[in-house]
Amino acid sequence: MYPAASKPPVNETTSSALEDAVLSPRFYTTDFEALEEVDVSAVREEWDALLDEFEGDPNKHHFRRSDEFDQDWSHIPDKDQFVDFLVSSLTAEFSGCILYSEIRKRVDNPDISRLFGYMSRDEGRHAGFINGALRDLDVGVDLSFLSKTKNYTFFQPKFIYYATYLSEKIGYARYVTIYRSIEKDPDNLRVHPIFDWFEDWCKDEFRHGEAFAALMRSDPKLTSGRNKLWIRFFLLAVFATMYVRDHLRKEFYEHLGLDATEYGFEVFRKTQAISRQCFPVSLDLDHPTFKRLLDKMVANTEKLVELKKKGGLLAKIRRGGLMASNAWTFVRLYLLPVKKHDLPADFRMEPVY
Ligand SMILES: [Fe+2]
Ligand SMILES: [Fe+2]
Repeated sequence: MYPAASKPPVNETTSSALEDAVLSPRFYTTDFEALEEVDVSAVREEWDALLDEFEGDPNKHHFRRSDEFDQDWSHIPDKDQFVDFLVSSLTAEFSGCILYSEIRKRVDNPDISRLFGYMSRDEGRHAGFINGALRDLDVGVDLSFLSKTKNYTFFQPKFIYYATYLSEKIGYARYVTIYRSIEKDPDNLRVHPIFDWFEDWCKDEFRHGEAFAALMRSDPKLTSGRNKLWIRFFLLAVFATMYVRDHLRKEFYEHLGLDATEYGFEVFRKTQAISRQCFPVSLDLDHPTFKRLLDKMVANTEKLVELKKKGGLLAKIRRGGLMASNAWTFVRLYLLPVKKHDLPADFRMEPVY
C-alpha cells in the first residue's frame, strides 16, 4: 500500500477501478496453506482431461488486435457507460489474474499450481486486451498501480470457489449473450470491434468455471449441509450485483440490442442451467417477488448515485436510508423459496449457447 502522502497521481479511470464500492469487482486473497491439502483424486479423470485442454491453449493466438482498433472510436454512443463497462470487466479479469497468479506462486500442490498458472495466463491476456481498448480512448488503467493499492478481501478457499465459479460462469453467459445479440444485426449493433472477440473469449471463462466445478465436485462437503446456505447467498449476491450494475448503464446495452432487464434474466437462466452441475440449489427466477425486489434495489441505487453527486448532510442521511433499504431488500430476496435438485453423475459440460 502507498501511504496517502506519496500516492502517485493516477488518471480518473484508474481511480474508478480502485473504488471499493459495494458494486465494484473486488480483489481477493485466500488461505494458501489450505490449498496445499486439496485432493482431486475423486475427479482425476475429468481433471486431467481439463488440464490437457488448458495446456493446449486454444485461444493462444486469439487476443491479437486488428487494425480496426486503431481507428477513432471516441464517437461511440454513451461512451461513459461503455468505458464503465470496460473498466468493471477489466477489474474483474485482472482481479482473477492476480489471485490465480498468487495461488500458482504460493502453492506447491502440483494440481493446483498447474491449474492456476493456466488460468492466470488467460486472465492476464483478457485484462491486457481490454486495457488496450481503453488506451485507444485515452483512458487506460495503470494495472501495476492497481495491484499495489487496491484493497484485498480475504476469503477461505470454499468462498473463493463459490464466488469465482459463479463469476466465471456468469462471465461466460454475459459475453456470449452480448455476442449473440450483436450477431443478429452487426451493421447497427456492433459499436466497437472488441465484441468480435467475445465468442472465443467466453470459452476461456467457461473452461475456468469447469475447473472450479471440478474442485467442488472433488469434495462433496463443499456443496452439502450448511454450505447450501452459502451457495444461495453467493448466487443472490452475484446476480443482484450484476443486475443493479447493468441497469446503471442500460442505455449502453440498448446500443447492443439488449434490454437490461431481459438481458439480466437471460444471463441468470444460462448461468443456472450450468450451475446445476455442482450447486444443488437454484434461485427461483420466476417467483413473482424476485424481479420486483431486484427492481427495488435498482431504483434505490439510482437515487443513491444522484445523491452522491449532490453531497451535504441531508443527502448523507437519505443515502443511509437507501442503503438500509437495499440491505433489507437483499434479506427478503434471500428468504424467498429456492429450487433444490440432485447433482448429475457426470458434471462436465460443453459451452452450448
Ligand atoms: Fe477472463
Ligand atoms: Fe475467467
